[in-house]
Amino acid sequence: MFNHGLDVKVAPSILASDFTEMNRSLQAMKEWGADWVHCDVMDGMFVPNITFGQQMIRDFRKHTDMFLDVHLMVQAPERYIDEFIDAGADLITVHQEATVHLHRTILQIKNKGVKCGVAINPATSIYTLEEVLGDIDMVLLMSCDPGFGGTPFIPYALNKARRLREMMGDRQIDIEVDGGVNEKNIDEILDSGINCIVAGTALFRSPDPKKSVEILRNGNR
Ligand code: DX5
Ligand code: ZN
Repeated sequence: MFNHGLDVKVAPSILASDFTEMNRSLQAMKEWGADWVHCDVMDGMFVPNITFGQQMIRDFRKHTDMFLDVHLMVQAPERYIDEFIDAGADLITVHQEATVHLHRTILQIKNKGVKCGVAINPATSIYTLEEVLGDIDMVLLMSCDPGFGGTPFIPYALNKARRLREMMGDRQIDIEVDGGVNEKNIDEILDSGINCIVAGTALFRSPDPKKSVEILRNGNR
């Protein structure tokens, strides 16, 4: 495994929760021993699905002290970034494909004092991020086409992760994976150098989510 020297974070995706039970899901995630709450914001334009917006993040912030990992699947996210940060997001991730002036959007996030991630879809090359790697805190590699939970893992995300670790050289930052992650594919995911693990279905449908979080953090030993 690539020695990136970074902690592994497990981020249950609240998209897999019953939406009328969000608060209960937040409390459950903490009991499971998870690190981050992964919040999927979808606008029905960048992706063919609509979920929730800044008001939901504001309410999550009232009910949990967990780290809020906000994944914006929104066209031209720069229109809403300030509102999501004011609502209490700890990390804002925008899609490289959704914003024309990526550098400006990154600065908009960093200047407000929160962490910044950039996501790329399965078909987008890691080399589109080469110039901005020094400015951001995390790369999110989509391992499914964004828009829905419960879809299969696209394995070539692993090859992208390995090449990204090489590209990062001496300045290793978080790499997150999102889509189709489960207890069966976690070993090869961790081996590829990915250290932030998003999982919706695999945790919310698990008979023992606490144990599943442990497996997603450490692999099957
Ligand atoms: C998909 C979302 C994911 C989704 C993952 O567009 O970005 O965060 O919740 O769900 P699973 O783990 O079920 O594939
Ligand atoms: Zn996501």
